[in-house]
Amino acid sequence: MRIGVIGTGRIGTIHANTLSRHREVGSLILTDAEPARAQELALRLGETAAPGVEEIFRWGVDAVVITTATSAHAELIGRAARSGLPVFCEKPIALDLAGTLAAIAEVEAAGTILQMGFQRRFDAGYTGAREAVRSGRLGRLHTVRAVTSDQSPPPAEWLPVSGGLFRDALIHDFDVLRWVTGRKVVDVYAAGSDAGPAMFRAAGDVDTAAAVLTLDDGTLATATATRLNGAGYDVRMELAGELDQIVVGLDDRTPIASTEPTGPPAADKPWTGFLERFGPAYESELNAFVDVVRGGRPNPCDGREVLQAFRIAEACEVSRRERRAVALAEIPGAEPGAQGAPGPPGA
Ligand SMILES: NC(=O)c1ccc[n+]([C@@H]2O[C@H](COP(=O)([O-])OP(=O)(O)OC[C@H]3O[C@@H](n4cnc5c(N)ncnc54)[C@H](O)[C@@H]3O)[C@@H](O)[C@H]2O)c1
Repeated sequence: MRIGVIGTGRIGTIHANTLSRHREVGSLILTDAEPARAQELALRLGETAAPGVEEIFRWGVDAVVITTATSAHAELIGRAARSGLPVFCEKPIALDLAGTLAAIAEVEAAGTILQMGFQRRFDAGYTGAREAVRSGRLGRLHTVRAVTSDQSPPPAEWLPVSGGLFRDALIHDFDVLRWVTGRKVVDVYAAGSDAGPAMFRAAGDVDTAAAVLTLDDGTLATATATRLNGAGYDVRMELAGELDQIVVGLDDRTPIASTEPTGPPAADKPWTGFLERFGPAYESELNAFVDVVRGGRPNPCDGREVLQAFRIAEACEVSRRERRAVALAEIPGAEPGAQGAPGPPGA
């Protein structure tokens, strides 16, 4: 099969590498708004560079991978759907809810595939946590603590096109919270701090955030994120139930030091970023996409899943701005069966 990759920055390079090695993928066509970037990667991988997005569609591909800045995702998803092409797209779908809903509507009208890039669903630790919850080993779950801490901040020019800390970073925690627990979020209370570098204030963003989330079975979750975790890249999830508790992301590279005299030693080589921490998961999700395109497996993460995680991020933004608890029912796009979701006709 021939796949078009649009956007050859950090994550596009990783995905193009995986696809280029895949035995079911005959060739790639790469493009980027900065053409030299796509040309350099194409040369390195022995693939073809196209001068623009137009050529990807004109030259003909079997599927499209979208790894541009978030602001370009929705339009490209719509374009691929109208061409009848399956799409893998990095999260999130759009910077706002209207764009997210419009892109999903295009995909559903066209009847095409949209697989979204929530790679934590392919990570061994999160997969193990989901199995532990489902097996009943933890007993009734009462508390979940989710952490996403980047070691160093992104470039200043990236912040205005990221969607902000809740939609860009914590959206991973919100999705995987739903996926691991199998529960829906019913309300949130969130706060953010912009006390760090001035570029966050200038972009209307925060460098650190925290949210308390209530799940529909009464489980309480907290999710925190920061762009300024000098110790390293720290992504964890602790799940505590009446019978047992477990943690995802605790290993000999976790960048946290114990102050106990008999505690474990500090990591020699702490994780520095998502590319190394989630390398195997990125590879698995792209391999899964190839299988999905071939009709060999169901879509592991469609646009509606991202919509639900995005709604939680939206609710957190409203909560942070208005300094109040926000019910998810206030945010359009509820899934059927959720509290406050529209009922069946005539109900
Ligand atoms: N799943 C994850 O863990 C993860 C991690 C990082 C980034 N992402 C997502 O991936 C996307 C890209 O992030 P990144 O870190 O690779 O950014 P990046 O800035 O490194 O790369 C983005 C690339 O897209 C290109 N581009 C932008 N608009 C374009 C357009 N309209 N047409 C063609 N090319 C265009 C840019 O020139 C750049 O080369 C973002 O949506 C981000 O949220 C996901």
